[in-house]
Formats: sequence, C-alpha cells, structure tokens
Amino acid sequence: MTVVTQASELRASMASHGQPRVLVPTMGALHAGHLALVQHAREVAGAEGTVVVSIFVNPIQFDRAGDLAAYPRPLAADLAACRAAGVAVVFVPEVAAMYYPDRSVTVTETQLSRGLCGAARPGHFDGVCTVVLKLFLLSGCDMAVFGNKDFQQLAVIRRMVRDLDVPVTIIGHPTVREADGLALSSRNVRLSAAQRADAPRLRQVLLAARAAVQAGARTAADLLAGARHGLAASPLLRLDYLALVDADSLEEVARLERPAVLAMAVFYGEVRLIDHIRLEP
Ligand code: PAF
Repeated sequence: MTVVTQASELRASMASHGQPRVLVPTMGALHAGHLALVQHAREVAGAEGTVVVSIFVNPIQFDRAGDLAAYPRPLAADLAACRAAGVAVVFVPEVAAMYYPDRSVTVTETQLSRGLCGAARPGHFDGVCTVVLKLFLLSGCDMAVFGNKDFQQLAVIRRMVRDLDVPVTIIGHPTVREADGLALSSRNVRLSAAQRADAPRLRQVLLAARAAVQAGARTAADLLAGARHGLAASPLLRLDYLALVDADSLEEVARLERPAVLAMAVFYGEVRLIDHIRLEP
C-alpha cells in the first residue's frame, strides 16, 4: 500500500496502477461503515482495478470550529485498516496541499443543498462539492463510493457530477448500523455512555414513522408530530431539524404521495448525528 501526501505524488501513483480506479473519499476515523465502502470498492474494482482511499478532514465543510477541532484523527489505525482491507493507495494531504491560501473558486450546488443539512450548516455542501471535485480530479478515479447515510450529500454529489459532466460513476452504499440500530458515524465515539445508550432512539423514531405509514398515515404533520414526540422523550438530545422531503427533489412535502425521506439531525451535547428513512406511500 502506498501512502501519499502531495497531489503530484497521488497523480504519479495513480498513473502506475490498474483500472478501473475506485475512490473512497473519507475524513478518516474509519469504522465498519467506511470499511464496507472499501470492500464494495474492492469488488467493483475487480482483480485489475485499484482502490484509493482519501483521508482528509476537510476544513471548508465544517461550520463549527469546535466540531473541526474535535473531529477524531486516528491516522495510524486508519492506515492499518486500509492495509488490511486491500487498499492500494491512501491519500492523506495536509490542508496546505489541498487549498491555496488565496483560493477563490468554490463549487456550489443551488437546489438539493438548500434544505436539511444545507440550511442547518451554511456553506457545508460548498465545502463538500469543492473537495470532492478536487479529489476526483487529483485521483483520476473512474468511480467513487459514498455511504447512503449522508443521503443529501450523495444527492448533491450526483447532481454536481451530472451538471458538470464529471466522468466519474457515483456508487451509493447502504448505511451500516450497530446492532441496536445506531448508524455508524465517526462522531459516535464522542458520545458519553448515556448519550450512546439513548442514540438508537433516532432509528426507533424513524422505524415508527415507517410503521405509521404502513398503518395508513400520509400527512407530514402526522409523521413529523409522531417523530418529534419520540425525540422529545429524550432529555439528552436537542433537535436540529426534522423534515419530510421528496426523495428526488429534497423539497419538503405536505403529504406522502410518492417516495419521500424522513430526515433528522440532532445534537447530543456538541455531537451532531444525522439519520433518515425512505418512506413509500
Ligand atoms: O462524507 C464524508 O466523509 C465527507 O463529506 C467527504 C465526502 C469525504 C468529503 O470531505
């Protein structure tokens, strides 16, 4: 496995590896969810192909300095996990290797990124689009694998690739969960024991919404009230947002008439967690 820190090294390294080149972009603190993405990348790369993982805590997608500072960075363990997972190249740039001090170009998606996390975290998706496009260009990847957990991110990246004719095939991979339903996230390690014990509530609330739909509930008002009630039962969390949005446009809907997504973000102290569920009428 080759570990590179400079863009020029990444280009040179990728040129000497086989195709297809499959990128798994990460911010490190790799957990079983990331490793499932890497495993999937290995499968689609095939025997001749190359899996490249980027590990970069991208400062321009953070809206809170405390969150950026507290983001876990266990690099040695991450590299060991990549090696064990059959990754060929790991790109671990410093911030200075990614961004000029006077950089003045940003990639902005203006529709799908407006609500949900985009509204709650101004500038977040500009930062994501900008770094992801740079990682695509630097790695020369043919495909890239992203987790469905960040479903808005995935939708925004697909739109960027479509609108800018970026020659990269985007592959979404199902959310990986703990046995109690909590979606895996690098931020989970920052939860206290009590917060960790409470956090499966997110999944339970979402499953209850799906059960309500199966029992005939159709209005956003009913579904949101039920979910809000389930979340309010916890004294440990603070709701950031809760919304029912169309599965394609990500616009809020008043009734479930076609596939939609019930999405939420909550804070446990300073730790922000997201989750969602797809609902079909
Ligand atoms: O999902 C993430 O970990 C990040 O948003 C990504 C895609 C690696 C861009 O920094």
